[in-house]
Amino acid sequence: MANSPRIVLLLLGLSSFSFLLPRAAAQLRRNYYADVCPDVEQLVRAAITAKFKETFVTIPGTLRLFAHDCFVEGCDGSILITSTSENKAERDHPDNLSIAGDGFDTVVRAKAAVDAVARCNNKVSCADILVMATRDVVQLAGGPSYEVELGRLDGLSSTAASVDGKVPKGSSKLDELNSIFGNLGLSQEDMIALSGAHTLGFSHCDNFANRIRNFSNNTPVDPTMNQTYAAQLQTMCPTNVDPAMVVAFDPVTQMQFDNQYYINLQKGMGLLTSDQILYTDIRSRPTVDSYAANPQLSAQRFVLAMTRMGRVGVKTNPAQGNIRLDCSVFN
Ligand code: HEM
Ligand SMILES: *[C@@H]1O[C@H](CO)[C@@H](O)[C@H](O)[C@H]1NC(C)=O
Ligand SMILES: *[C@@H]1O[C@H](CO)[C@@H](O)[C@H](O)[C@H]1NC(C)=O
Ligand SMILES: *[C@@H]1O[C@H](CO)[C@@H](O)[C@H](O)[C@H]1NC(C)=O
Repeated sequence: MANSPRIVLLLLGLSSFSFLLPRAAAQLRRNYYADVCPDVEQLVRAAITAKFKETFVTIPGTLRLFAHDCFVEGCDGSILITSTSENKAERDHPDNLSIAGDGFDTVVRAKAAVDAVARCNNKVSCADILVMATRDVVQLAGGPSYEVELGRLDGLSSTAASVDGKVPKGSSKLDELNSIFGNLGLSQEDMIALSGAHTLGFSHCDNFANRIRNFSNNTPVDPTMNQTYAAQLQTMCPTNVDPAMVVAFDPVTQMQFDNQYYINLQKGMGLLTSDQILYTDIRSRPTVDSYAANPQLSAQRFVLAMTRMGRVGVKTNPAQGNIRLDCSVFN
C-alpha cells in the first residue's frame, strides 16, 4: 500500500475544497459547451489575447465589466445592452462609473470569434463569454488560472433604474460593502478577496478627491491615508483636474495581478475609502493581513470568490433568458 498516503492527501485536499466551495448554481458546470462548441475556451482566449496586445486596458476593463454585470440582476450579460430611446440600460446609469469601452469591445471581439465558427454560431451566451474573458484577463495579468463554470443565459432586461444601490461606491465603508455583497450571497471574506481586483486598473480623481485635499486649506484630510502617498496623489490630481485623468489603484505593480493591493493597504496606500477601510476597520483587518502575507492564499480566495460571484442570479431556464445574437441588443 505504498500509494495510500498520497490517496489520503488527495482525499483530504478534495474534501477541504468542496467544503469551501458552495454547491454550483442550478445547471452551471464546467465544459458546458463540450458538445456544441468544444473549442469555445480557446476561441475566446485567442480573441482576448489579440485584444490585449492592442491595449492593456483590456484587462482591467473586462474584469470590472464582469463585476458590474454580476452586481446588477446577476451575471446575465445585462450590462452589455445598449440603451434605446425607450429603454435606458444598465450601462448608462451614472454608476456604470465610466467602465472602459475596451471592456465592452473585448466581449464583442470574443463573441465574433466564437460565432465565426459554424457550429458555435449563436450557441454561446454573452454572459458566459464575459466570464471566460474575465478568467483570461486575470491570467494574462499574471494572476491565477482557473476553470470556469458555464451555462448562463443572457437576461431579458437591463434598466438603469435596476442599478440603484446595487453597485458599491468608492466612498462605501465596511457595513455598506458587506450589505451590498451580502445581498448577493457573498461573505465579507469574498468581498475582501474580490476587492483584490484593484491590484489592476485605474480610478478617476473625483472618486478619491475628498480624501487627499481639504479645499479650505489644501492639506491632506484623510488621516487613514499615508501622507507621502496623499502628497503624490495631490500632484497627480490638481484641483483644476482634467476629468479624464486617472490614477493606478496599485502604484507599486500596476500591470501585475498580485497581492500588492493588500500590502499597500497596510501602508495606508489604498486609493478609495472602500479600499482603505478594509484595513482600517478592525473587523476586516485580519483578512487583509493574511492576504498581504500570503500571495497563494489571496489568489486562491480570489478564484473561489470569483466562482461564487459568477453564480449570482444566473438564469438557466429558457423562460428567463436566451442566447443573444448581438450582445448589446435583445433578440
Ligand atoms: C468592493 C467594492 C468595490 C468598489 C467600491 C469599487 C469601486 C471602484 C471604483 C470607484 C473604480 C474606479 C472607476 C473609475 O473612476 O473609472 C473601480 C475600478 C475598478 N474596479 Fe472596482 N469596486 C469594487 C469592487 C470591484 C470588484 C469586485 C471587481 C472585480 C472583481 C472590481 C474591479 C475593478 C477594476 C479592474 C477597476 C479598474 C477599471 C479600469 O481601470 O478600467 N472592483 N472600482
Ligand atoms: C455611462 O453612462 C453615461 C451616462 O450616465 C454615458 O454617457 C456613458 O456613455 C456610459 N458609459 C459606457 C461605457 O457606456
Ligand atoms: C479643512 O481646513 C479648515 C481650515 O483649516 C478646517 O477648519 C476644517 O476643519 C478642515 N476640514 C477637514 C475635513 O479637515
Ligand atoms: C507610507 O508609504 C511609504 C512609501 O511606500 C512607506 O515607506 C511608509 O512606511 C508608509 N508609511 C506608513 C505609516 O505606513
